[in-house]
Amino acid sequence: MLTHEKIERSNFWMILLILIFVSVGGLVEIVPLFFQKSTTTPVNDLVKPYDALRLAGRDIYQREGCYLCHSQMVRPFRSETERYGHYSVAGEFVYDHPFQWGSKRTGPDLARVGGRYSDQWHRVHLLNPRDVVPESNMPAFYWLDRPLKKPTIGAEMAALRIVGVPYTDQEIADAPKALEGKTELDAMIAYLQGLGLALTQTR
Ligand code: HEC
Repeated sequence: MLTHEKIERSNFWMILLILIFVSVGGLVEIVPLFFQKSTTTPVNDLVKPYDALRLAGRDIYQREGCYLCHSQMVRPFRSETERYGHYSVAGEFVYDHPFQWGSKRTGPDLARVGGRYSDQWHRVHLLNPRDVVPESNMPAFYWLDRPLKKPTIGAEMAALRIVGVPYTDQEIADAPKALEGKTELDAMIAYLQGLGLALTQTR
């Protein structure tokens, strides 16, 4: 008989049974999320796949580690919704692979920063935050004002299509052209200005 005492003394049984029980608990919580409509379909028709320029900006956001200081998820608390706007819902992020929710907030949450400032404000702020927010301790990303070089954009969109982002062949073919003559700063600003717009009317 496999008694409790026996299990606790055997590395093999202990590890095996822990794995079985933990995976049952995990699967019951995680698997339904793959099939629930609220997590797999866009919350409304304002949620669209990132166009080429915004997608390139999103990549730079990850490359520069902006997520290390900025979350992109407004939690459903009054203190949050009064500051940032409508709380975030899963259906806003169906085209985010991977999502940028994060949890570290050295700076403010950016989930609804789209449209909050002008493009020019972002330009100045990213190149040197202290020019517009004197007490800011955000680093200056002065190198972003350089040509955007991203020959892989079409391949990236094709890869995203495999995981469910509905890009058309035409959009993929036109992607390199959409980035011509742009800077990394242009891409980043396009990305930031589109964040969270789907639910901002209800702010
Ligand atoms: C070391 C932490 C840190 C990093 C890294 C960082 N930020 Fe910030 N960010 C801050 C802080 C602090 C503020 C608040 C002060 C200010 O506005 O500059 C801020 C403010 C902002 C704001 C204004 C938000 C608002 O609602 O007022 C934007 C937009 C922003 N950051 C974008 C970015 C982007 C894009 C990156 C990556 C290129 C980035 N940040 C990287 C700390 C950081």
